[in-house]
Amino acid sequence: MNLLYKYACVAHNKVMYQAIQKMEIMYIYISLSLFVASYLLTTHFRHKIYNLPPTIFPTLPIIGHLYLLKSPLYRTFAKISDKYGPIILLNFGSRRVLLVSSPSISEECFTKNDIVFANRPNMLFGKILGNNFTSMVWAPYGDHWRNLRRLAATEILSNHRLNEFQEIRSNESRLMVHKLMLNSSPVNMKLVFYEFTLNVMMRMISGKRYFGGDIPEVAEEGKRFKMILDEAFSLAGASNLGDYLPMLNWFGANGLEKKLIALQKKKDAFFQLLIEQLRKQKGGEAGTNTKKKTMIEVLLSLQESDPEYYTDDMIKSFVLILLSAATETSAGTMEWALSLLLNNPHVLEKAQSEIDLRVGRNRYIEESDIPNLPYLRCIINETMRMYPAAPLLAPRSSSQDCVVAGYHIPRGTMLLVNQWAIHNDPTLWTDPKRFNPDRFEGLEGARDGFKLMPFGSGRRNCPGESLALRLVGLTLGILVQCFDWERISEDMVDMTEGAGLTMPKVEPLIAKCRPRLLMQNLLNEL
Ligand code: HEM
Repeated sequence: MNLLYKYACVAHNKVMYQAIQKMEIMYIYISLSLFVASYLLTTHFRHKIYNLPPTIFPTLPIIGHLYLLKSPLYRTFAKISDKYGPIILLNFGSRRVLLVSSPSISEECFTKNDIVFANRPNMLFGKILGNNFTSMVWAPYGDHWRNLRRLAATEILSNHRLNEFQEIRSNESRLMVHKLMLNSSPVNMKLVFYEFTLNVMMRMISGKRYFGGDIPEVAEEGKRFKMILDEAFSLAGASNLGDYLPMLNWFGANGLEKKLIALQKKKDAFFQLLIEQLRKQKGGEAGTNTKKKTMIEVLLSLQESDPEYYTDDMIKSFVLILLSAATETSAGTMEWALSLLLNNPHVLEKAQSEIDLRVGRNRYIEESDIPNLPYLRCIINETMRMYPAAPLLAPRSSSQDCVVAGYHIPRGTMLLVNQWAIHNDPTLWTDPKRFNPDRFEGLEGARDGFKLMPFGSGRRNCPGESLALRLVGLTLGILVQCFDWERISEDMVDMTEGAGLTMPKVEPLIAKCRPRLLMQNLLNEL
């Protein structure tokens, strides 16, 4: 009996225990659900209370809206904007992001709020590759950044300086034509454009021609240089989750930081050597040198008068930024433009006719011809509309609270303007998927208000616009003038876009070219 009683007690306790356990689990479930529900609702209603722009439901704890991100970002963002509107406030982890995809709201950001949005966000790339946020692209808006821009505008990228360097670009364009004549067709045009742009930039920066020359040591240096740049571009395309979820940085998340530091050391050593070489050269030729100064030489002269500011580190970072900002963007635009021409032979023919008529066959096209070739300009504009080198412009960050489209935007918000979405908006462009350069007839320059702004806008716009337009116009012009172009097969050129900061082509452009009969006499002189 006693045993039976004991057994009953144990059984009863067990049932009680299980019931309590169940209740506890239920309690945890309910608390968790309440917590998540109240978190989601408060983040949602906070937007209404503080008059913040609309957001997307749900904003998940810790990661916020990072779950939405899929490459390519500009396409994902365009779909989001289609659904939720032209101004949206998202949370990428701990960072607030304002996503804008309309010309009128972009205008408000870059005019009324231009100074507020003249900062760049603090990101790992800026810390390491931007020399602790001191390089032109990454420096915060302020005296140092203003000085860098002034220096770029007056000493390096002014019309006067660009005219001084015109000979280099003209010479390189002819060397490119010469190389194409010697090469057996088909040719990898991605490589041709890349080497052309690098040669031009490095000759302007340091006076050295790295690709296609016949001095073995320089060619070797060029190879090393190209490897460094290739690595830089591939790392620049990588996204660093630690910028949005700082706790990942404690664990060294994806090893990106280590790779960037190693790359920065290589770049630094390379450019230090270059500076030393030029310094020696400059010393040797002091007083007798009347040749046009390269960019590094200009900076070395400034170093003599103000060594504290124009340190070697500052000079290296300055020229490196110009080089990185100029190469992929300009070479990529050339590659997209020629690809579009190959897929649209009637446009190519029209461009050839314009050049034949206005430049003729007895001389090569020069940069000074570009203003007289409006159709060529239309082709470049249409290329930049369809394949902008910076589809999300470059991120900005607000230095104080401001109002955009009637909404309150808190300080420290990262601004992303989805230029690609604006360029593909059917309410702004007729048949936006069609390559139709004629749509730009009558437009002066590369801007169509805030509908087309491939070089950004406001104080922080691209300082290299004029150089870029000269480079792209001259290259495309001379290739169209001198060669007949064909695709390598009946198939259209593959226009798939790859991942990366700029908008690279997934498949490099391989094309066939034949010297034009009309141009034979001139080409034989090369
Ligand atoms: C087709 C060629 C190019 C395109 C489409 C392009 C586009 C852009 C864009 C969209 C920005 C961001 C502007 C903004 O935030 O509003 C930018 C910034 C910049 N670009 Fe370019 N760019 C090109 C070529 C060049 C060249 C040739 C150089 C210099 C030699 C250059 C130097 C820079 C620099 C230094 C910045 C940062 C400016 C700053 O933060 O103050 N770019 N570019």
